[in-house]
Amino acid sequence: MKLSFSPRLSPFLKPSLFTNVHRSVCSASSIPPPPTTPKPQTPLFLRPPTHSTTTSDLQIWHDWANTLASSVGSTFVDLDNGPDSTLLRRELKWLMEDAIEEPKNIDNNDGSVRLRVEIEELYMLWKQRVEERRPFQYVVGCEHWRDLVLCVEEGVLIPRPETELIVDLVGDVVLGNEGLREGLWADLGTGSGAIGIGIARVLGSGGRVIATDLSPTAIGVAAFNVQRYGLQDVVELRQGSWFEPLKDVEGKLSGFVSNPPYIPSDNIAGLQAEVGRHEPRVALDGGANGMDDLLHLCKGAAVMLKPGGFFAFEFPSIPRFATTLESQNEVLVKAKTLVFPNCDYKTNDEEQCKYLVEYMENDAGGSFCNLNMVPDFAGINRFVTGFRR
Ligand SMILES: C[S@@+](CC[C@H](N)C(=O)[O-])C[C@H]1O[C@@H](n2cnc3c(N)ncnc32)[C@H](O)[C@@H]1O
Repeated sequence: MKLSFSPRLSPFLKPSLFTNVHRSVCSASSIPPPPTTPKPQTPLFLRPPTHSTTTSDLQIWHDWANTLASSVGSTFVDLDNGPDSTLLRRELKWLMEDAIEEPKNIDNNDGSVRLRVEIEELYMLWKQRVEERRPFQYVVGCEHWRDLVLCVEEGVLIPRPETELIVDLVGDVVLGNEGLREGLWADLGTGSGAIGIGIARVLGSGGRVIATDLSPTAIGVAAFNVQRYGLQDVVELRQGSWFEPLKDVEGKLSGFVSNPPYIPSDNIAGLQAEVGRHEPRVALDGGANGMDDLLHLCKGAAVMLKPGGFFAFEFPSIPRFATTLESQNEVLVKAKTLVFPNCDYKTNDEEQCKYLVEYMENDAGGSFCNLNMVPDFAGINRFVTGFRR
């Protein structure tokens, strides 16, 4: 899997700019997260600037951090397709922006700078980033995703830019379909809540979303993000395994989406350090062939959706977890051999999504129609979509 760093383009939209007043049928506030849900860390940029240092001490820190970033060169790229010095220096600039109250004015003040963390912690955070390969998003505690800035921390997958498209797919299908727009949706394996929150904002005033996850940490972080965007009355969070927390809505869903774990267990050890060492295994490991969760979701789709209901799964043709073309092909062949033993598979990336579509068409008892493979911006087939007959 390539750890993608999305450009920090999107300004944070204040909740008041987009909060729809939805019908409060089922809210996070009416069903509180389980008591075991850990309290998420506050992202750096949201912390008060209660610390200070001198501009010269900040400069010393910055020079040290810059030198550390430059010392990396292309070592991590060669090792596991990790970040190079250029990317690390860009991240250093972002870290400054998040940690300093007014990063643009540091040269014009009276010699002191207000910080959101102690200067000593800035040393520690940058060492973690470069020496331990801790993902930048965990260092600052957030990720920019669509027009959202989402809180993330260890235990929760960092949402990837490729996944943003799933919200557009839902936006497209609800545009001309009031039944879907005002219906009940589910985001299974919500992680930070990214897809669930994105979908909640494209639905109509009566639409609502149930976002589930097995991980209590993910539920806690998703709850934080839902609340920050003022969507507590629209997005309900439920902890549990796949369809288990959705028994009361069987056959009632207008749509459901999921970006399940899909990395074959054996491949986890070979992942880029930022991913394999730091992101939660439960978010990555899709079993021996990478398809355990996906197939479980495919099998449940017919029971969960009401007639006319829409589904979209993320499942890229070229496995994101393979770092070289050779290992991509190896993984592909292995996955197809295990899952589709009777198929005359090819190591052609176009084929993998096709097999999933065929599975939905042939093995799901004719429950689905209009099955489709949708490519991402790089032209790689990444999503499988369809409708319940
Ligand atoms: C690839 S991550 C996707 C996270 C998020 N939807 C996103 O796109 O950023 C898969 C998610 O599925 C969750 N998960 C894994 N096994 C699960 C299960 N049995 N039931 C529910 N969620 C599960 C993980 O905790 C993780 O949050």
